[in-house]
Amino acid sequence: MLVWTLPQFGIDQLRLVEQPDVALGASDVRVQIKSVSLNYRDLLIVQGKYHPRLKLPCVIGSDASGVVTECGNRVSRVTTGQRVVLTFARKWNSGPITDEARQSARGAEVSGVFAQQVICDEQSLVPLPDTLRFEEAATLPCAAVTASMALQNLLPSERILIQGTGGVSLFALQYARRKEGSYIFVISSDDTKLAKAKELGADEIWNYRKNPDWEKWIRERTDQIGVDRIIEVGGPASLDRSLKAIRSGGQIALIGVLAGEGHFNPMPIIMKGITLRGIFVGPRSELESVVESYSYYPDRPVIDRTFSMNQLPEALHYLQTGKHIGKIVLNWD
Ligand SMILES: NC(=O)c1ccc[n+]([C@@H]2O[C@H](COP(=O)([O-])OP(=O)(O)OC[C@H]3O[C@@H](n4cnc5c(N)ncnc54)[C@H](OP(=O)(O)O)[C@@H]3O)[C@@H](O)[C@H]2O)c1
Repeated sequence: MLVWTLPQFGIDQLRLVEQPDVALGASDVRVQIKSVSLNYRDLLIVQGKYHPRLKLPCVIGSDASGVVTECGNRVSRVTTGQRVVLTFARKWNSGPITDEARQSARGAEVSGVFAQQVICDEQSLVPLPDTLRFEEAATLPCAAVTASMALQNLLPSERILIQGTGGVSLFALQYARRKEGSYIFVISSDDTKLAKAKELGADEIWNYRKNPDWEKWIRERTDQIGVDRIIEVGGPASLDRSLKAIRSGGQIALIGVLAGEGHFNPMPIIMKGITLRGIFVGPRSELESVVESYSYYPDRPVIDRTFSMNQLPEALHYLQTGKHIGKIVLNWD
């Protein structure tokens, strides 16, 4: 079978190599991978920025869907021929995150899914309904689950600020839109992307590259109160603005650190009683809910562009340009 391995850090170091098939354990399942999707994390891993001491060579990639082609003799959750999506973490079925769950994330220390076949424990698979294509399902394990976790306990009519228009942010926009009465603000670096966000249901949009002081805009548009919830992908360098844009008692879901390093004043967290909630993807149970939700909501994952699996370096270079909106998918031919 063919596998993408990373012998040294750098996108152009990635190699597509032939590896022998591995025998199955009793609870294992062999999945023939059909589609995978890229996450910003994959880029950081390949560049050596996510885990600089990562043991190489490794197989990267966390998000994939495919077909079960073989089951160990104790497997009962799936059957041969079934369409499935793999979980982001191998050992996180439900409940709050644990060290074991965190350390079982695929695509870094744990072997990834950018391969023709992946052997998984049956517990780390979710069966797919006919309503989801392989390409769509492959976008869900990391970005969609993260967005869904960030919006847990969303109340009707909450006002939400979503930063950016990448994978996580667009799922957050779509899932927030599903809730009755949500009012959604989206900020982006690009007017074309903002127009797309509007099409997808954003109520108000703002270009943070042209006008960096989006926190003033949010305060003006909310009668100086602030929004109830922020999907924070900027991190330390944008948190000062977020702490001004959030209402007292509001919640910031801290997901990414894309705006780079920075210092923020933590006092407003105390004085405004803000909840700063760290999110690290989510368990299989959340992926199951996300998958099931597509059986009764008409929205679909936003796929910016698809590549052939042979074009992984090209697809990662494209991700690096930041020109995409939503997800980048690769298919095995
Ligand atoms: N904690 C977790 O569980 C988790 C899970 C998934 C991802 N993440 C992290 O979340 C971030 C987004 O991941 P992704 O996979 O969705 O990436 P992605 O698809 O590459 O999207 C990144 C988007 O973020 C926006 N962005 C960049 N700098 C920004 C800034 N200073 N302020 C606001 N928005 C900014 C850009 O949108 P515009 O071009 O529209 O401005 C860009 O397209 C990354 O840092 C990733 O590592 C964390």
